[in-house]
Amino acid sequence: MGCVIQNMTPEHYDEMIELWNRIEGVGLSDADSRDGVIAYLIRNPGLSLVATDKGMIIGAVLCGHDGRRGYLHHLAVVPERRGEGIGKALVSECLSRLGRLGIRKCNAFVFADNDDGLGFWKSAGWAQRADLTVIQGLT
Ligand SMILES: CC(C)(COP(=O)(O)OP(=O)(O)OC[C@H]1O[C@@H](n2cnc3c(N)ncnc32)[C@H](O)[C@@H]1OP(=O)(O)O)[C@@H](O)C(=O)NCCC(=O)NCCS
Repeated sequence: MGCVIQNMTPEHYDEMIELWNRIEGVGLSDADSRDGVIAYLIRNPGLSLVATDKGMIIGAVLCGHDGRRGYLHHLAVVPERRGEGIGKALVSECLSRLGRLGIRKCNAFVFADNDDGLGFWKSAGWAQRADLTVIQGLT
């Protein structure tokens, strides 16, 4: 695989947001501001990960939980390094860490038209919930 998987830290933010911005299938919002991501990392210590090679970020995922279920957001691998098992390794490490915290199920949000993203999750055995849709309100 030729990369190192390590905890995401605030120092990764600039490089990571640049990566997420250029990857189709990742939808960014105001929650992905520097302060938003740092707050997420503080609330979910030791769960979000980056994959690096020679110090450069080539993959990333935000991982957290609400005490009941785990959540993965913004899983992405740079196009030139896809197909090497990096996405799978990031997800597998997140699931291990969630499992050690007693979290038994994990959800991921995927745009309905992201066929590649859905293909990835399904090939890993994740089930698409046809009985649910996401609704959102404002505080
Ligand atoms: C989805 C993504 C993270 C996969 O990363 P990756 O490092 O290329 O995936 P891996 O090499 O770890 O692949 C793991 C497995 O998934 C399979 N897979 C990967 N993409 C697939 C696809 N589009 N359709 C079907 N299977 C796929 C691989 O064949 C591999 O199978 P194997 O374990 O039997 O060998 C990457 O394509 C990406 O960044 N896409 C854009 C962002 C995105 O859509 N993210 C997901 C939505 S949140």
